[in-house]
Amino acid sequence: MIYVGAVSDIPDGEAVKVQGSVPIAVFHVEGRLYAIDDTCTHQDASLADGWVEGCAVECPLHAACFDLRTGLPSGPPAKKAVRTHAVVVSDGEIWVEESVAVEPRFPVGAGASEHA
Ligand code: FES
Repeated sequence: MIYVGAVSDIPDGEAVKVQGSVPIAVFHVEGRLYAIDDTCTHQDASLADGWVEGCAVECPLHAACFDLRTGLPSGPPAKKAVRTHAVVVSDGEIWVEESVAVEPRFPVGAGASEHA
């Protein structure tokens, strides 16, 4: 489990980045928490720096939108989903359980270009 911080550390509508096997973005949206891989599946952009609208985040680089619940993109230029992760809240503290079901997409320069 990856420690994120206190729920109160993430204002509603914002995100923080934590480090798993790859960077993971944790979003706080209307009282709910979502965790997805931080790196866009199109190119190398941080989704934590994107814009949140409803249950979606818009990539700051080319505006692909990803559903925070499923990781699926709603349209181009991104074609692949980002991984989603389980979020656990205990005593006001947030933890993320990184998914191992799907290979993560490593950020550029992370030494795993075969996953790009
Ligand atoms: S890098 Fe995210 S849409 Fe291009």
